[in-house]
Amino acid sequence: MRGNARLTLLFSQETIATRVRELGGQISRDYMGHEILLVGVLKGAFVFLADLMRTLQVTAQVQFVRLASYGTGTTSGGHVHLTQDLEGSMVGRHVLVVEDILDSGLTLSVLLQQLRAREPASLKLCVLLNKRIRRRYEITPDYVGFDVPDDFVVGYGIDYAECYRQLPDIYALTIPAPRS
Ligand code: XMP
Ligand code: MG
Repeated sequence: MRGNARLTLLFSQETIATRVRELGGQISRDYMGHEILLVGVLKGAFVFLADLMRTLQVTAQVQFVRLASYGTGTTSGGHVHLTQDLEGSMVGRHVLVVEDILDSGLTLSVLLQQLRAREPASLKLCVLLNKRIRRRYEITPDYVGFDVPDDFVVGYGIDYAECYRQLPDIYALTIPAPRS
């Protein structure tokens, strides 16, 4: 805990591990006989991706992209661009994008549009957390870890101002408004 921020447990590390194994099983069945290219979205997805990848029973390669969106605070802004791109071609490959949180859908709709233009054999999306209530851009993930309410969440790779990523569980973060 930093300052007077309050953390409320949403998902324990045991609950996360169970769900990640289930997702890995589902993905392994769906891609049986194929090789997958996992595309992790930095930084928030790196812990999830590392755990998910180790539950897969199909051959998987991994790459990372990094996106920047203009905007501050706890919501993403209106303009998204890649600051770290993929290496090599995606033509004919089975690409599975792995992201921490699907919120308004802006970030992933921009990313998926860019990746689709690179002619993969298939393109699917796996998100750990789905804030369905906040959706503004139509986008339906193929694999979802957990649905979450409209809380700001941290832990398990997910940050607030670069803090809390190392927590093994997932929490809702509340920062009390300053007293006037
Ligand atoms: P959009 O609105 O583009 O947002 O779907 C997705 C990105 O916003 C970040 N995000 C969060 N980050 N706690 C965070 O640390 C949150 O509760 C949260 N909600 C959205 C996240 O990086 C995601 O990629
Ligand atoms: Mg992110």
